[in-house]
Amino acid sequence: MTTDTLPSPVGANDTGPRAAPERLLGLACRACGRPETGPLAYVCPACFGPLDARYDLDVVRHLVDRTVIERRPPGIWRYSELLPVETVPRRGLPVGSTPLTGAERLGGALGIERLWIKDDTRNPSLSFKDRAVAVATARATELRLAALACASTGNLAGATAAAAAAVGLPAFVFIPADLEPAKIDHALAYGATVVPVAGTYDDVNRLCLEVADETGWGFVNVNLRPYYAEGSKTLAFEIAESLGWRTPDVVVAPIASGALFTKLARGWDELAEVGLIERRPVRFVGGQPAGCGPVATAWERGSEVIEPVRTPDTIVRSLAIGSPADGREAAELAHQSGGSVEAVPDEATAAAIRDVARLEGVYPETAGGVTIAAAAAARRRGVIRPGDEVVAILTGNGLKTPEARQLGLPDATATADRPGLAPVLAPTLAAFERWIGGAG
Ligand SMILES: Cc1ncc(COP(=O)(O)O)c(C=O)c1O
Ligand SMILES: [Zn+2]
Repeated sequence: MTTDTLPSPVGANDTGPRAAPERLLGLACRACGRPETGPLAYVCPACFGPLDARYDLDVVRHLVDRTVIERRPPGIWRYSELLPVETVPRRGLPVGSTPLTGAERLGGALGIERLWIKDDTRNPSLSFKDRAVAVATARATELRLAALACASTGNLAGATAAAAAAVGLPAFVFIPADLEPAKIDHALAYGATVVPVAGTYDDVNRLCLEVADETGWGFVNVNLRPYYAEGSKTLAFEIAESLGWRTPDVVVAPIASGALFTKLARGWDELAEVGLIERRPVRFVGGQPAGCGPVATAWERGSEVIEPVRTPDTIVRSLAIGSPADGREAAELAHQSGGSVEAVPDEATAAAIRDVARLEGVYPETAGGVTIAAAAAARRRGVIRPGDEVVAILTGNGLKTPEARQLGLPDATATADRPGLAPVLAPTLAAFERWIGGAG
């Protein structure tokens, strides 16, 4: 599907990004501030710091207000003035504007009275990665790159493959060879070339740094990373808009590289800077699997140093990054905001997946289980206090990790004995009555 089939693209009738190129100041080093002119650059040649997109927020302030945004069609391009593309893309999947819903039943179980769920399981390829990939793809199209590619822990594979299909580019997705089969199949379905690599995600990522240099392909999370990372800000924008242009007391999100977590803060900062919300403190609670929790460990120790996890050991493959690019910033954000980064055992993740699905009708993948279990842990720790308004972000869909929810259940492998599954009935009312009588 292309945006051609949607109502008029964002900004079609106003002075959107097309008319205001000075809104974008290009890329600059996060560490030393050095501006970078090469469009496919991602590290600072002076200090090796990461590059970020920069905006002139004074210009943006004059381009948008709440009413302008509210009049636009749904999707991430509602906030195009705060995204690093020159024009709103004409082609691409419809991403974003996912629901923020009250979760009273789950909240009751966790002891959090005012709990909201941001249901990002509903994006086109069933994860929040569609946001980041949409921005990287738009930029790749502007730069006329020949192919899209990525190094993936799973969800990015599907997101990149789907986005490439939608704009008619070939896709190459590099993954750890032992990834969940559903995620591999998902990327294949969109016509991508899937390249399994014998190693961890960090090995895959290292290889992709070299392949990106060699081929010039647009690796969404390598040489397009400064653009890609900006896509996660749209979660912050949408949450604020859904709450009536304000922030919650606490946000709970999963951490792998730390990009999503840190960009939430950036997103709310920018909204405050341009006058769309009032600046209020938000506590940032992160979740990581205990079997691969380098940021949780650093936060717990109050350390600025992220010690890499060489061999992740967890069912939460989507968060299994041992050397997180934005790990230090993520730990610092949790610390400075009065939040926490919780290390979640796999059994707690599986139980949390079951709870959200059973109590709210939303079925998250493992990262969502980590998020809900992290919210529970932060509540027990007192980081989440009685009466707090809490937003928990469910970033991926459970259909991608179908075995995960069964961890810790009795007879989890015996399909005939799965909890809730009735025996095969003869197609007669008598058979039904015999069974329901016995079951009752
Ligand atoms: C479902 C899901 N949630 C969260 C994350 C974490 O994202 P980040 O790398 O931005 O921390 C990932 C990363 O792959 C993911 O797949
Ligand atoms: Zn630098």
